[in-house]
Amino acid sequence: MKALIIYHSEHNKNTELIAQIIAKELPARLVKIEDVRVFELHNYDILGFGSGIYFSKHHRLLLNFIDKLPLLNKKVFIFSTSVKDRLEYHNALKEKLTHINCEVIGEFSCKGFCNWGILKLFGGINKGRPNKEDFDNTKKFVSSLKDKISSISQNL
Ligand SMILES: Cc1cc2nc3c(=O)[nH]c(=O)nc-3n(C[C@H](O)[C@H](O)[C@H](O)COP(=O)(O)O)c2cc1C
Repeated sequence: MKALIIYHSEHNKNTELIAQIIAKELPARLVKIEDVRVFELHNYDILGFGSGIYFSKHHRLLLNFIDKLPLLNKKVFIFSTSVKDRLEYHNALKEKLTHINCEVIGEFSCKGFCNWGILKLFGGINKGRPNKEDFDNTKKFVSSLKDKISSISQNL
């Protein structure tokens, strides 16, 4: 099954590090959101979507991108980095994906360094994150995703 990962990593390139590991391990093609051609999406069976979390949601560029897509009927997975590392932050993106007939088959989140606003004065929060442990957890996530994908393809 062919997989494509679409991501936006703006603040400290934290999510990009996670996206690169997922792309290598799955494997999948990795594209920045501004480089995606919507007509290409039908070439892929699995789509991955990720960004940092901004005000409790994925980045607006990613959310707006999903709003413009037609009904997709794809298996998808979601990932993010954030200060608090909460899967609830995925809810807005999940809702939009469900709305265009996509099935979420996996989710991953981990902590990411943030030095926005007043945090800069204190040297930022989550220094060094994502770190080796986060990268190992990313690999574990990919391994469970692969199991899921192989069971899906067996049932086709
Ligand atoms: C403007 C702004 C708003 C943010 N809002 C949240 C938030 O609501 N919850 C949270 O846990 N982290 C929040 N963060 C932290 C980022 O999600 C975190 O640094 C993330 O790893 C950034 O990913 P990126 O480097 O891939 O863009 C915010 C960061 C910025 C700059």
